[in-house]
Amino acid sequence: MEVIIQPDQDAVARLASQIIAKDLRANAHLVLGLATGRTMEALYQSLVGKCKTDKLDFSLCTTFNLDEYVGLAAEDAHSYHSYMCKHLFKHVNIDMRNTHLPNGLATDLDAECVNYENLIKKFGGIDLQLLGIGKAGHIGFNEPLSALLSRTRVKALTPTTLSQNATLFDSQTEVPRRAITMGVGTILDARKCLLLATGIDKAEIIAKAVEGPITSMISATALQLHRKCTVVVDEAAASKLQAADYYRWIFNNEPEWEEFR
Ligand code: GLP
Repeated sequence: MEVIIQPDQDAVARLASQIIAKDLRANAHLVLGLATGRTMEALYQSLVGKCKTDKLDFSLCTTFNLDEYVGLAAEDAHSYHSYMCKHLFKHVNIDMRNTHLPNGLATDLDAECVNYENLIKKFGGIDLQLLGIGKAGHIGFNEPLSALLSRTRVKALTPTTLSQNATLFDSQTEVPRRAITMGVGTILDARKCLLLATGIDKAEIIAKAVEGPITSMISATALQLHRKCTVVVDEAAASKLQAADYYRWIFNNEPEWEEFR
């Protein structure tokens, strides 16, 4: 795991978009794993800017989103499908036929999950998986006690997640109680992972995810097992990391990061 500490939320978004742009320029057929949430909004804005001004080309890339609520139609304003259209798909030259999200309205949800896994395999697996982190440490919607080898499946959301996401709905009662999510194992299969976190509210969970023991209670800790996982945080989210100075030294001195400094 590598941790990169940036001054603020905008710098996190800028750096993450540079990392994604580099991979997309190197491979126009990139299979990109996408995430939702407030943290991703600035990143998507930055990618839209790169598409418009630097001609970053999304036309051949394929995307798979981490998760979708059960019971919401794609057109529902609160669905992750709508989120992706609003923040990214509508503004870049992506071919909508190459974008994938689980169908939260599938009549056979278990079959939908198996099909989603198979589709990812058919495209050769995910090259770069973007991740946010929930306040209780979930990646995707892998709530506490998610098996560290789990695959795409339906998960019931915890009260913490329901209230965290309630602000995006009209009232807490409207937040769907279940979601289809890639499993922790599905995420670990991605060739690269890129986790973003910003703000003081994420400081404690970032310290646990990066420096704490691996536990299924906090699915983000499983990323410690990944061969190529980069965590980009702002100063606020980094404020509880014990080895922050070491991470800063690596970013400022290792040749791998030279072009991003
Ligand atoms: C939801 C998503 C997660 C995301 C999390 C954090 O729970 N399913 O994938 O990481 O929100 O959201 P935010 O960036 O708004 O803190």
